Amino acid sequence: MIRKSTNLYHEEPEAAGSSLEAPSSPVVCRCLNVTESQIRYAIACGQVLSVRDVTQDTCAGGGCTSCHRDIRRILLDHGIEEKRPVQSKNAAIELLAMMNATTTR
Ligand code: FES
Repeated sequence: MIRKSTNLYHEEPEAAGSSLEAPSSPVVCRCLNVTESQIRYAIACGQVLSVRDVTQDTCAGGGCTSCHRDIRRILLDHGIEEKRPVQSKNAAIELLAMMNATTTR
């Protein structure tokens, strides 16, 4: 006897897909909706050495930049310490001198 079921092929979409979905990963970059796992994947697969590289690979960090600290933390988890450009003391002194010169005129 063939049993008629109205529910055989018409499951609710959430119930049907819930067992096949990948575990969710937290969103690191809210501007561009990039998850932590996407960033970790880019680091593991590519030549990623900086936040800029992560942005090029995933777009994370390409908006308001408030996620850069979290991206740096993920880079550190992978043993990548980003080298930040160090402004020389002379450049800072020159900038202050220029500002003083323009305000005293
Ligand atoms: S939250 Fe990543 S750029 Fe704004």
